Amino acid sequence: MSFPTVRLRRNRQTQWSRRLVAENRIATADLILPIIIIDGENRRETIATMPGVERLSIDLATEIAAQAADLGIPALALFPAIAPELKSEDGAEALKVDNLLGRAVTHIKRQVPQIGLIADVALDPYTSHGHDGLLVEGKIVNDATVEVLCRQALAEAEAGVDIVAPSDMMDGRVGAIRQALDKAGYQNVQILSYAAKYASIFYGPFRDALSTRGLLKGDKRTYQMDVANSDEALREIELDLIEGADMVMVKPGMPYLDIIHRVKTEFGVPTFAYHVSGEYAMLRFASQAGALEYEPALMESLLCFKRAGADAVLTYGALDAAKRIKAG
Ligand code: PBG
Repeated sequence: MSFPTVRLRRNRQTQWSRRLVAENRIATADLILPIIIIDGENRRETIATMPGVERLSIDLATEIAAQAADLGIPALALFPAIAPELKSEDGAEALKVDNLLGRAVTHIKRQVPQIGLIADVALDPYTSHGHDGLLVEGKIVNDATVEVLCRQALAEAEAGVDIVAPSDMMDGRVGAIRQALDKAGYQNVQILSYAAKYASIFYGPFRDALSTRGLLKGDKRTYQMDVANSDEALREIELDLIEGADMVMVKPGMPYLDIIHRVKTEFGVPTFAYHVSGEYAMLRFASQAGALEYEPALMESLLCFKRAGADAVLTYGALDAAKRIKAG
């Protein structure tokens, strides 16, 4: 059968028919909202390179958490913007249960118990050099870093984090963190591995949000993946799954849909995508310039993540998207 018997436009004639034959949908259940936390009370700070996103003190972040929960967003990813005086060469602040992140977790858990809380395991918010690991003579040392990351994950679990998310890209950290958690009785704490995380230029605005951009010495290419590689992403994912990752992430998002698709097809495990700060900023600034409309562009982007095979998407536009989905 072919044209003129077959006419693919027939199904596209009306909105109801297009909805009926749609292969993918984005739901609020697919969204994770990242929130940048600062110390203090009733404080909000704009971030010049991320219009629409603010650093929020714990009380204000808790209000946003409640809003997210009401809209049906299942989980938040919390990122602490640590004051410069608390940063150090070894990032020791990361190991305190009652640091900024820990206090945020405790407070949000108490006020909005129904929302899941995700926290990064990586030292970059806490180090004076902006790297995710420990530096010895200017080089990131893998195994010593993994030991510290285990202690950071334990502190996060103790504070009440539901999902720890190693975003550091050290070798062997997922297995070590799983063991450390289990030994301490945290068998139910989930691990979302930033398994295929690329050394990307698209993290720039996030580093402004955490004030790590100016601090970062050199780049992260000795631990984050080479943008050129795809087979290697599958090896990273496979190893993290063997080591006990419950969910895996591909990061950045939109320029990496091929990786998301390969990962989901190959492994069939919960696969998340991070629509990162630079991607979000592109939509906002293009919209400000009149080049496109932010919200429809966001919704299209999110749907494309689903089509590629993502189960959930971390996006700074999660609240905007959830409101739009709710409005129908
Ligand atoms: C740090 C971390 C980064 C992001 C999440 N966790 C930045 C980096 O690796 O330098 C980026 C998030 C974003 O750009 O939105 N481990």
